Amino acid sequence: MAKIVLGVTSSVSLYKACEVLRGFQKAGHEVQVIMTRNAAKLVSPLLFNSLSGHRTIIELFDEDHPWSVAHIALAKEAALLVVAPATANIIAKFAAGVADDFLSTFYLAVGAPVLIAPAMNEAMFLHPQTRDNVTRLRRRGVEFVEPAKGHLACGDEGWGRLAEPDEIVRRGLELLKEKVSLAGRTVLVTAGPTREYLDPVRYLSNRSSGKMGYEVAREALLRGARVILVSGPTHEIPPAGAELIRADAAAEMEREVLKRFPKSDIVVMAAAVADFSFAARADRKIKKQALPEDLKLVPTRDILKTLGERKKGQFLVGFAAETDDVKANALKKIKSKRLDLIVANDVSKQGLGFDADDNQALLIDARGRVTDAPRMSKRELSRVIWDAIEASLGSKR
Ligand code: PMT
Repeated sequence: MAKIVLGVTSSVSLYKACEVLRGFQKAGHEVQVIMTRNAAKLVSPLLFNSLSGHRTIIELFDEDHPWSVAHIALAKEAALLVVAPATANIIAKFAAGVADDFLSTFYLAVGAPVLIAPAMNEAMFLHPQTRDNVTRLRRRGVEFVEPAKGHLACGDEGWGRLAEPDEIVRRGLELLKEKVSLAGRTVLVTAGPTREYLDPVRYLSNRSSGKMGYEVAREALLRGARVILVSGPTHEIPPAGAELIRADAAAEMEREVLKRFPKSDIVVMAAAVADFSFAARADRKIKKQALPEDLKLVPTRDILKTLGERKKGQFLVGFAAETDDVKANALKKIKSKRLDLIVANDVSKQGLGFDADDNQALLIDARGRVTDAPRMSKRELSRVIWDAIEASLGSKR
């Protein structure tokens, strides 16, 4: 049995929160409700008291127990925070880190996965500010159950209707399960590009944004793993809880990865490691007039291949960025680098692969079994990847 905290904010759809609460209880979990002050004006907290069997929390400071710091104590016990319904206001507060009531303060204190089910008028939901807030929270690993299209409390038709309680409960239970499935495992993920320097200011690199690798790391954290993220230069916000190691050039990434490889259980190489570096690197900026006629390139060492040669029971996942013969080239890489799984993405398509929010891939395991992952967000693809890794680990045992 886990302790689930259910945040209820002031949307007319908050009556559906009763069904969400019941759904988690039916699955055998204990539910503690936190209401915002405005939500408590719409419906009496007594309703949630009697359904949950616990006193609903509203105020940050409890006059009966002025010495206790309830949001910290509860944050340590919570296995999951679900906010359903979530107004535009609470989403904005979470995104900005405003902590001016119990629920928003609790959000900052809790380390457990967070699931948000928004409910609001369509214009508010589609407002660029709200979209921005949702994106920021997603990038920090917060999960969303998207609202449905339909009749809204304001009389309009459109997006913004609270998702069905069954769907919210299903996703919440999935997150709880994910939390434990990789518990006790150390996962090493690489992400982003590398930079091969010609001199202190000029370098050779590629278009990798780091998004794919960061999502893979985020999902592993959600599933309870200890995560080491070796990252090339990116603008992505690292997932909270990951041990972040920055590496600039391929040789530096190799050093950081090899150092941590012996103590890792699973390695996912999503980084786009440069295949070439300059034969020589100047210590000082090369003057325009002094630019050599030829710039000699030399191949970098293949980190993944070295891992394949050195592996002692580690589960090794590589990526293959291909523009032609995706499957055939991925099959060659899985053999030559002794991989357990390869994620082959076609990087020739617009809006997919490098520096995009979406991706599409073929997942091929060492036995040649293929999973086709059609176009989806990198967030979703990271779930498909971890499901495939876990399935392979399961069948290996
Ligand atoms: O970062 P994003 O913008 O989100 O984009 C994601 C991505 C397209 C970069 C990602 O999905 C991806 O495909 N990453 C691997 C890119 C790549 O280098 O592919 P490759 O086919 O050249 O290399 C095959 C594998 O060998 C990769 O796992 C790579 O990390 C590894 N490699 C390559 C070269 C090298 N010197 N050392 C390596 O370990």
